[in-house]
Amino acid sequence: GRPDPCIVVLFGATGDLAQRKLFPALFELQRSGLLPEHFGLVAFSRSAQDDDAFRAQVKEGLQRFARTQPLDEAAWEHFASRLECISGGYDDPAAFARLRERLEATEKRQGTGGNQLYYLATPASTFPTLLKGLAGAGLLPREEQPGQKPWRRLVIEKPFGRDLETARELNRNLASVLDERQIFRIDHYLGKETVQNLLVFRFANTIFEPLWNRNYVDHVEITAAETLGMEGGRGRFYDETGVIRDMVQNHLLQVLALCAMEPPTSFGAEDIRDEKNKVFRALRSVEGGEVGSHVVVGQYQGFREEQGVAKDSRTPTYVAMRMNVDNWRWKGVPFYLRAGKKLSKRVTEVSIHFKPVPISLFSTSDACQRLEPNVLRLRIQPQEGIALSFESKVPGEDVSIAGVTMDFAYAESFRKPVPEAYERLLLDCMRGNATLFARKDSVEQAWAYVTPILQALESGVGGPIHTYAPGSAGPDAAAAMLSKEGRRWTVLK
Ligand code: BG6
Repeated sequence: GRPDPCIVVLFGATGDLAQRKLFPALFELQRSGLLPEHFGLVAFSRSAQDDDAFRAQVKEGLQRFARTQPLDEAAWEHFASRLECISGGYDDPAAFARLRERLEATEKRQGTGGNQLYYLATPASTFPTLLKGLAGAGLLPREEQPGQKPWRRLVIEKPFGRDLETARELNRNLASVLDERQIFRIDHYLGKETVQNLLVFRFANTIFEPLWNRNYVDHVEITAAETLGMEGGRGRFYDETGVIRDMVQNHLLQVLALCAMEPPTSFGAEDIRDEKNKVFRALRSVEGGEVGSHVVVGQYQGFREEQGVAKDSRTPTYVAMRMNVDNWRWKGVPFYLRAGKKLSKRVTEVSIHFKPVPISLFSTSDACQRLEPNVLRLRIQPQEGIALSFESKVPGEDVSIAGVTMDFAYAESFRKPVPEAYERLLLDCMRGNATLFARKDSVEQAWAYVTPILQALESGVGGPIHTYAPGSAGPDAAAAMLSKEGRRWTVLK
């Protein structure tokens, strides 16, 4: 159903994320009748802008990025009437007082009844100042009891810190103002349909779960390859961030946790997040001199010439890692993770590689008869779907064997578009459902895992940074890391 009436207060409304993702998602929600009937959006902007200029800018963004094109003009008119803008400095208490007055007026006009969602789509360095401003103006009171109304919630975007220490500092800062229930940390991978389906696939079916462990699984491969580089003027941000902070600490570890976690007691937010957290706690740490044999980092040729990137940058744009989950279920099963920019194709996929059969009844001298172990591929994007490969007899008098695939494709089975992650996540914030958001403890656990790796790499003890050609499959050293263990990457070869 529709969420409660509310106002979204957006910081960073003129930024790339707002233009590309947030406005298109809100607009799509409105088109599909999912926004509350009583709704308003107030942008707080550092540049002086009146409502009309702001609306024109949003419209321009929607004309490029809305999911359905051409832009539905009638829907836009309605949407525009719900948008307004107020300007002021982030550190100016008077501006927050004006914001408060504006919100009171908007509340009366739109009938939103006091519920407010504060969305910080701004660099993490602004969070403390913004929190102070909001709390100082009495806009973000702490929730004393679950389900309290009217509600106030805060949405923040990653990066949640740069390392364990800064992540803790941010969490302390948030906790000094808000109850954890009011904080929604966005990891947009969790909003992807196919990522959510990991749990449904595992726990709504009988046949896979009994095999989902060290007895049957040889290894797990998780790849998030992108063809994009530093488009949209991201060079500077990315040079400070690098692939481990940008993709591994959050998106890929979240995906890993969903693959590796135990069945939760219920599908409730805390039960699911408790189980994921146990996975993070079971990650075997990799430190100092070990990093070189577990982690391969690379940088694409030409990265240093990108706008905003230092000429002598050592920031990795590619990483391949070998990880272990030291718990009852996964002991001895390596998880290989990979992420990178400017690779040969865009593909995000989890594959579960099963163990070989104990003996091959079919082995002959014929090389064609080598049996390939079963592989279950969970295609997160693009061509969303799930495929299981297995061996089959080739028709004929001989016993000749070939690999075949059973394939499920979302596009064929469900003839409707897959919603964008942000649509789902924004709706969940308004509904107060935190299941698909990162919780404080797991953010810290994930940092606890990657921080020693980052430190080793940044101090030069973690091994060299390999260069790779744009449009390639990444550095050869990543393939070598697996071949040493008698395995190979199967997605991007
Ligand atoms: C973002 C990263 O969180 O995720 C980007 O900051 C990356 O660098 C993006 O490109 C990938 O998301 P998606 O949905 O395109 O896989």
